[in-house]
Amino acid sequence: MTDLVIASNNKGKILEIRQMIQGINLLSLQDIGFDTDIPEPYHTFEENAHTKAEAIHRFCGKNVFADDSGLCVNALGGAPGVISAHYSGERHDEQNLQLVLTNLQGVEDRSAYYKAVICLIWQEQTYYFEGVCSGHIITEKRGSGGFGYDPIFIPDGHTETFAQLPLSVKNSISHRGKAVAKMVAFLHSQL
Ligand code: IMP
Repeated sequence: MTDLVIASNNKGKILEIRQMIQGINLLSLQDIGFDTDIPEPYHTFEENAHTKAEAIHRFCGKNVFADDSGLCVNALGGAPGVISAHYSGERHDEQNLQLVLTNLQGVEDRSAYYKAVICLIWQEQTYYFEGVCSGHIITEKRGSGGFGYDPIFIPDGHTETFAQLPLSVKNSISHRGKAVAKMVAFLHSQL
C-alpha cells in the first residue's frame, strides 16, 4: 500500500481524516518521527498548507498532505480566519470560542463559514483541494463533540451544532470533509 503522511498533530483532524481514507497507508507525524512545530506565518490557507506539506516532504521524502483551515465570520471581516487556532492569543479552543461570542455580542449578521485547503504533494507534484461549509454562530455553546469552534457553529440545513451532530454527519458536510473527498477522488484516479 502507498504511504501518505498527514502533516498534522491535531488529533480531532486526524481522527476525522482517517475515517475518510481507505486503501492507503495513512501515517501521522508521530509515525514518521517528526516532532517539530511548523510555523503558519502566512495570510492565506493555501500558503500555510503548502508550507506545512513542503516541510514534512523535505523531512521524510514521502507523499504528504497538509490542511489549513479556520472559521471565517462575515461580520468580523472574515476573522478569526487563518489565525483561528490562536485567535485569543493562546492556542486554547475555549478562549478562542469565547472571543468570537464576545465580538459578536449585539451583532445581527451571525453568518460564518469554515474553510479548509489541502495541499497534497503526490509523486513530487503539488495539488490543492478546497472545501467550504456555511452556517451561523449561535449565542451559547451546545454539545460536546468535535473541537475548536464546533459548539457554536450550526451548519446550514441543520438545527444542531457541529459539536452535537454525529461525526459521520459532520464529515459528510464539513469544509474538511469536502476538501478530503476531492483529494480522495484524485488519489483513487491515481491508484
Ligand atoms: P489549523 O490546525 O492551523 O488548520 O487550525 C485550524 C483551527 O481552525 C483549529 O484550531 C480550530 O480553531 C479551527 N477549525 C478548523 N476546522 C475546524 C472544525 O472542523 N471545527 C472546529 N474548529 C475548526
